[in-house]
Amino acid sequence: MAIPLMNLSDCYKEIYDEVMKKIKFLIDNTQFIGGEEVDKFETEFAEYCNVKYAIACGNGTDALTFALKALDIGYGDTVITVPNTFIATSEAITSVGASVDFVDIDEETYTMDPEKLKDYIKRNIHKKNIKAVIPVHLYGQMADMEQIMGIAQEFDLKVIEDAAQAHGSKYKEKGPGAYGDVATFSFYPGKNLGAFGDAGAIITNDAVLARKIKMLSNHGRIEKYIHEMEGFNSRLDSIQAAVLRIKLKHLDYWNDKRIENAMYYNELLGQCNLITPKVVNDCKHVYHLYVVRINDRDTVKEELLKENIYTGIHYPVPLHLQPAYKYLGYSEGDFPISEKVSKEIISLPMWPELEKETIKSICDTITRIISKLKS
Ligand SMILES: Cc1ncc(COP(=O)(O)O)c(C=O)c1O
Repeated sequence: MAIPLMNLSDCYKEIYDEVMKKIKFLIDNTQFIGGEEVDKFETEFAEYCNVKYAIACGNGTDALTFALKALDIGYGDTVITVPNTFIATSEAITSVGASVDFVDIDEETYTMDPEKLKDYIKRNIHKKNIKAVIPVHLYGQMADMEQIMGIAQEFDLKVIEDAAQAHGSKYKEKGPGAYGDVATFSFYPGKNLGAFGDAGAIITNDAVLARKIKMLSNHGRIEKYIHEMEGFNSRLDSIQAAVLRIKLKHLDYWNDKRIENAMYYNELLGQCNLITPKVVNDCKHVYHLYVVRINDRDTVKEELLKENIYTGIHYPVPLHLQPAYKYLGYSEGDFPISEKVSKEIISLPMWPELEKETIKSICDTITRIISKLKS
């Protein structure tokens, strides 16, 4: 039997009846976009994140875009992020007309290196109009928010936390949204909290930003025919909101199962010649992805596939080396840690209901492949 990278149907079984009943109700009552389900999801998600406001929207890319727009970031401004993220992070920056620039990551956590951020700002503060920074909470672990917020305050920068992969994660007891001006989420189906289609949200404690973001997501209006500005059509469907409300109740339990699975992987791979994930003290890593580093990554990946074990690479080509960003003029060697890591990382199968025997068989196979490669 093939082992997938993630399995979305296992968790569906637990909530099938509740979801079907709700979807039928919404269809019978022709509640398709916005409305009570979306309002309730926004209230419940804000409560879960311990912030004042949550605004639902069409996807995580729009969430980032609206956050930037609401913070008045646009042409002439520079926004800093990391090269090892999904392209949505940088797409949002350039879509509002700002320039994207990168700083490298920490080799152990794979998140933004605050030292490098500070160094970059010091070197460029008089050359560029640096307005904001987007740390990415990658794989389920939050970036070093204390340090990053300290630097942002020193240089008067806005902070948008890209939490698309980190629902329920914590940095020193506090989750995304507690540190930056805003945090954004994706509820793409494979995420720790995933809808049955595209969905996203922005969270903030700032009432003015929340109102602006709400308008941006719905044609620049709060009242039906009064458009205070031009906005976008990025509303959440009622069915998606209903699915998210049902799933939100299980999120902490599912995250705990992911953590349990990660601990078991760590235990079984501890003696193997590879690097397991590093969790920073006082952080709750929610393992959206379980990523290890192996020297001969591509061979190991191929061998695993021969054994019907599917893996992923998040991400094989850092953004500064992507064809889309050729115009930025970067070359190999500019962000050495991101480049090095991108050649070694491999995402192993991970989902809450993944069974211990399956993890054991994956780890036995990896151990066998690696020892064969050594000999
Ligand atoms: C780090 C990160 N940011 C942003 C996004 C964009 O989210 P969406 O696909 O919902 O637009 C993703 C989605 O994979 C992501 O992983």
